[in-house]
Amino acid sequence: MLVFSGNANLALAKKICKHLGIRLGKALVGRFSDGEVRVKIEENVRGKDVFLIQPTSPPVNENLMELLIILDALKRASPKRITAVIPYFGYARQDRKDQPRVPITAKLVANLLTVAGANRILTLDLHAGQVQGFFDIPLDHLYAVNVFLDYFKKVKLDNNLVVVSPDVGGIKMARAYAKRFRASLAIVDKRRNSPESTEVMHILGEVKGKNAILVDDIIATGSSLVEAAKALKIAKAKRIYACVTHGVLSANVIQKLEDSFIDFLVITDSIPLPKEKQSKKIKVVSVSKLFAEAIKRIHQEKSISILFDSIRS
Ligand code: R5P
Repeated sequence: MLVFSGNANLALAKKICKHLGIRLGKALVGRFSDGEVRVKIEENVRGKDVFLIQPTSPPVNENLMELLIILDALKRASPKRITAVIPYFGYARQDRKDQPRVPITAKLVANLLTVAGANRILTLDLHAGQVQGFFDIPLDHLYAVNVFLDYFKKVKLDNNLVVVSPDVGGIKMARAYAKRFRASLAIVDKRRNSPESTEVMHILGEVKGKNAILVDDIIATGSSLVEAAKALKIAKAKRIYACVTHGVLSANVIQKLEDSFIDFLVITDSIPLPKEKQSKKIKVVSVSKLFAEAIKRIHQEKSISILFDSIRS
C-alpha cells in the first residue's frame, strides 16, 4: 500500500500515515512559473494499491486541479488500484438543477475524477448521500458522528440535550446524531434568500430549557448556524453548541461566530484550519484515525461497514 497527498491537507495525510504506521509516498506537487500544476511521482507505484489524499476545499479549483493531475500521473505509472481519498468533497452542493440553466457541478466533478484515473472514492459526510450515485465506481462514505460523540463525552455536557438540524435538508443527519447522543430532535425551518444569507421561519420540536447541539455538514458563511442559534435563543434554549464536519469558513465567518449565541463550534480536520481563522469558539477534532482504519480495511479487502453500521439507520 502507498499513500500520497496533494497540498490541500498535508497535516491530515501525515496523521493518517502515522496511524497506518507507514511513511507518506514521495511526490513533487508544485507549480510551474505560469501557475500550472506540476507533478512528479518520485517512487515506483507499479502494481501497488495507491491512496491519494486531497480534500477539494478552498481554494477549490486549485485543489481540484491538483487532485486530477496527481491522479493522471499515478494512472500512467501502472498501479493496481487508485483510491481518491477526498475528506471534503467540494462542489457537492451543486447537485441538481434547482434553477433554469445551472450546472450540476457535483456530477461534473465525479466524471472528472473517474476520467483522471480514480478507481474508487473514499469520502466523509457528503452534502447529500445521493451524490454517491454520480459515480460509476465504488464509493465508501464515512461519517464523523462518532468522532464528535467522543469529543462531547469528554467535555461532559449535562444530558438535557436536543440535537437540532439547521435546515430541513439536514434531518437525516440530525436524526442519526440524536440517536447516538441519546437526545431529542428539533428542526429549524430555514429559507435561503441568497448564497450568503438565510432566514429562520419556524422551529419544529421542543428546545425550551434544553442544551442544543446544532449539527450540519458544512459551515461556509455561517449564516445557517448563526441564524439558527438566534432562533434557538429566542425559543429559550439554554446553551447552544454546534458540530459541523467541514469547516469551509468563508470570509467574515469568525467574527459572526464570535458575536453569535453559539458557545462553541466543533469541526473536523477534513479541511485545515488556517491561523487567521482560529478562534476560542472553534475546537477541532481529527478524522485521521477514521480514515486510517477505512484505508486499512479497503486495502485488506475487508468490510468497512463496521465503521458506520449503527449510524445509517
Ligand atoms: C446546506 O444545505 C448545508 O447543509 C449547510 O447548511 C450550508 O451549506 C451552510 O452554509 P452557510 O454556512 O453559508 O450558511
